[in-house]
Amino acid sequence: LAVGAYSPLRGFMGRKDYAAVLRKSRLSNGLLWSIPVVLSVSEDEAKKHRSGDDVALLDETGRALGILALTETFSPSKEEEARFVYGTTDEKHPGVAAVYGRGNVNLAGEVEVFDLPGPREFVAYRITPSESRRRFAELGWRTVVGFQTRNPVHRAHEHILRCALEVVDGLFLHPLVGATKEDDVPAAVRMRCYETLLKNYFPAGRTLLAVNPANMHYAGPREALFHALVRKNYGCTHFIVGRDHAGVGNYYGPYDAQKIFSNFAPDELDITPLFFDNAFWCRRCAGMSSEKTCPHAPEDRLFLSGSRLREMLQRGERPPAEFSRPEVIDILLESFSKQTRS
Ligand code: ADX
Repeated sequence: LAVGAYSPLRGFMGRKDYAAVLRKSRLSNGLLWSIPVVLSVSEDEAKKHRSGDDVALLDETGRALGILALTETFSPSKEEEARFVYGTTDEKHPGVAAVYGRGNVNLAGEVEVFDLPGPREFVAYRITPSESRRRFAELGWRTVVGFQTRNPVHRAHEHILRCALEVVDGLFLHPLVGATKEDDVPAAVRMRCYETLLKNYFPAGRTLLAVNPANMHYAGPREALFHALVRKNYGCTHFIVGRDHAGVGNYYGPYDAQKIFSNFAPDELDITPLFFDNAFWCRRCAGMSSEKTCPHAPEDRLFLSGSRLREMLQRGERPPAEFSRPEVIDILLESFSKQTRS
């Protein structure tokens, strides 16, 4: 909100926008928006404030970061939010659990921010949407594909990144570094993996690495749309949506996050989604391939689930180079061996 990544939002949503986002994936003025952006507080906290108040927004140390011009307080329907946005009310879903864990009252209104939270990691990679747009222009990129990720980069990611880069001028690698679920690999480790991949396997001048300082919702299709809209604000013209984008467990079908885009007209999306089928190493193709391009049998394809990969790393076993680049595996093995020792 502070840097314009959530444009056209200027603050936390009121009841009308919240209801429209839930039901229609739109703001009340009709513009696309698929995930509520709300400030939830306890009932006791809400009682201290009245519409028309300026409410100071503090970080956990008590330092003031901004002011909320309070226009409205309202009680959200968490059950509806879970159903519409996440497609389930199952509290085992991490995004639904986060919704149910929030305070019961939402404070709404525009926000004026005069400082960002700190001290912060990845300072060099925290660029604002206006800075990324300027950098794209300096690099001479007219078309830029954005890539969202919350996982250590593997060969399937690399494959879709390369395919996408073949048809645009530049690649904006924009990993999410806010809160993720506990068993996801920490952002600091992932950032080292992305740096290594770019240094060793992509030409300088074609990629830009920066962080997306937001949390994961695991909302599958709704979040894919949201991720695309945010990357549009950062200046991307294209956005990658692969298999089970922003998914978790078996809550969404593998291509639900692609299908949602067909509900909206290209000119209102104003960013072109690039869809990719499930990618993998195929022994018979002797290279990276996908459901769309590979005629061979499942036995010919290398598949490693996230949990199997974690088990291997925890045991100090090296996953095959066809699954992940050796330089990336080195970083993961080192970080898992530190975790096991501590
Ligand atoms: S996500 O939660 O950020 O979507 P992840 O970092 O694993 O998770 O994925 C980043 C992007 O790569 C998403 O668009 C996802 O759909 C895509 N992706 C990940 N793995 C594959 C794969 N094997 N084949 C095709 N697309 C993939």
